[in-house]
Amino acid sequence: MAESVFWNKHQPLAEQQESLLNQLKALLEAEGNLIANAANLSAALHNILGNFWTGFYFVDSSENNLVLGPFQGPIACTRIEFGKGVCGTVWKEKQTLVVPDVEQFPGHIACSADSKSEVVVPLFDAEQNVMGVLDLDSDRLDFYTPEKVAFAEAAARLFSAIHYR
Ligand code: SME
Repeated sequence: MAESVFWNKHQPLAEQQESLLNQLKALLEAEGNLIANAANLSAALHNILGNFWTGFYFVDSSENNLVLGPFQGPIACTRIEFGKGVCGTVWKEKQTLVVPDVEQFPGHIACSADSKSEVVVPLFDAEQNVMGVLDLDSDRLDFYTPEKVAFAEAAARLFSAIHYR
């Protein structure tokens, strides 16, 4: 069991990134349940990065939309349509979107008026289909530096690499 992640909030992310990713890998590889890993990864990223909201949306093929998964932060929208908002656009375009100012993103879905910037990372299954997205929101403008985005993408790859049962 590796159900803890240690980091120093006073030390730059760059200096801890390798250690953190190794710890997240151990955390995720210790469990084969998707909900449990999404829950723990949202908690870890929320605390490490200091997000306002951190969570998962998963593809619901029967409804052709994204449905809310485990998250940290205020109550959020439960369903997002394909191609809508930042999350639906990432599902459609299959690549990370960084939004420094959500008011400048046409069609942004405001689950909370306090969200000012966000990054959404696609999650791929073994066949390289989008299975969901990882959404990080900040209450500060332009919060997601290239370093934070790279960290979120690496964490998303670790999450997607597990063979869920
Ligand atoms: N802002 C997202 C919706 C999800 S909430 O931020 C949690 C979007 O535009 O897709």
